[in-house]
Amino acid sequence: MSPFTWIPLLFNLFTLLSSPQPTLSVDPFVSKAQIPSYFLNLAKSPEVFEYMVRIRRALHEIPELGFEEFETSKLIRNELDQMGIPYKFPIAVTGVVGYIGSGNPPFVAIRADMDALAMQEAVEWEHKSRVPGKMHACGHDAHVAMLLGAAKILQEHHRDLDLEGTVVLVFQPAEEGGGGAKKMRDAGILENVDAIFGLHVSSRFPLGAVAARSGPVLAASGFFQVIVSGKGGHAAIPQHTIDPILASSNIIVSLQQLVSREADPLDSQVITIGKFVGGHAFNVIPDYVTMGGTFRAFTMESFMQLKHRIEQVVTLQAAVHQCNASVDFSPDEKPFYPVTANDKELHRHFQKVAGDMLGSANIKDFRPTMGAEDFSFFAEAIPGYFYYVGMLNETEGALASGHSPFFKVNEAALPYGAALQASLAAAYLLEHHSSVKTNKKSSHDEL
Ligand SMILES: *[C@@H]1O[C@H](CO)[C@@H](O)[C@H](O)[C@H]1NC(C)=O
Ligand SMILES: *[C@@H]1O[C@H](CO)[C@@H](O)[C@H](O)[C@H]1NC(C)=O
Ligand SMILES: [Zn+2]
Ligand SMILES: [Zn+2]
Repeated sequence: MSPFTWIPLLFNLFTLLSSPQPTLSVDPFVSKAQIPSYFLNLAKSPEVFEYMVRIRRALHEIPELGFEEFETSKLIRNELDQMGIPYKFPIAVTGVVGYIGSGNPPFVAIRADMDALAMQEAVEWEHKSRVPGKMHACGHDAHVAMLLGAAKILQEHHRDLDLEGTVVLVFQPAEEGGGGAKKMRDAGILENVDAIFGLHVSSRFPLGAVAARSGPVLAASGFFQVIVSGKGGHAAIPQHTIDPILASSNIIVSLQQLVSREADPLDSQVITIGKFVGGHAFNVIPDYVTMGGTFRAFTMESFMQLKHRIEQVVTLQAAVHQCNASVDFSPDEKPFYPVTANDKELHRHFQKVAGDMLGSANIKDFRPTMGAEDFSFFAEAIPGYFYYVGMLNETEGALASGHSPFFKVNEAALPYGAALQASLAAAYLLEHHSSVKTNKKSSHDEL
């Protein structure tokens, strides 16, 4: 579906009409290096700040799980309509992609995830989740609010700043395991896009600081489900049974030896069994056991090797105990997430822009973790950059970490995320439009 074929025409018309105007008409003192702090001031202004707070609280009350973000998506489209920003919808069920600028290259994307978690909120406050068993406990409500804040700033100022090219706003579903980014990517939203930026709020880093690094920051991740079947019977007459609990216990112990004995100690890897379900009674050996877990690695080679060995160890260790076992590597259709690796050039770009905004002392080094992000599907296809926005205010005390029922967003962090996303995109367009103009004629024809 492509209801937007008329938009390039309109864009060109706008560009024609606005080109005789002097550049930087909003504030003649804004130079390229001043854009980040200029945008931060805009994002902190009551108009933009209160707008983001309102969006974030509204979303916090109506958390929706992956690929079910219907109300969230509707709210986003409503806001884009009001700002006069054209968009494509639906992409990957609930995804929305908006476009600010000329509709011509270069294209730079900024991304927010929209989904919540299947858990009960334990924070008592005015805007607590109204949906039992669902909660925005990872801050994706804040990410959407920040991206809409960035959109507001860019939409109101891209002509004054003489930005050429197009900012692509990516609102994606299902980050928490569903791989919404993969579906968006497969739908072609990155066509002609030169770079993409994503962020995550962090309860570890201080307010006004950001954290990032060049290269791999998050691991490749996969889930697996195991069924070990034996033969149930009387707990006191084991010789007439085949015990799947003992077999499963040995499988877990053997799996732990993969990382400790087969992996290079300097090549970080993890296997965790997080789910073990078997039996109902003290005196009965059950027919089967179900287990589930996750495995992580920092290179795809190590990751695929781990997958191969998990399958072998599970089935062969089960056979030792005369049980049968099967391993399912895509339970609930969860795809493997690739390693999240930050582009070297974009790292330089980030340091420059964030440094201009916050001062270099507020750019912290992010130590890689074995966590995972489906932003990796974007960063696998085109140069990508993923960074963290600090929320911690020491005076107000420690914040619960993501995925805790006590998780809270410090809304004072909203302007930083919004201004950074807007600045990273704006500075990218200013830097790249001249080089693109000469050697690329492509545009988003399907816009
Ligand atoms: C394992 O599978 C084989 C072949 O299907 C079957 O004969 C055997 O009974 C199974 N054993 C258990 C414990 O399920
Ligand atoms: C941290 O919290 C205190 C108390 O609420 C507040 O006065 C202060 O302005 C906050 N600091 C920042 C950087 O926002
Ligand atoms: Zn999360
Ligand atoms: Zn998250």
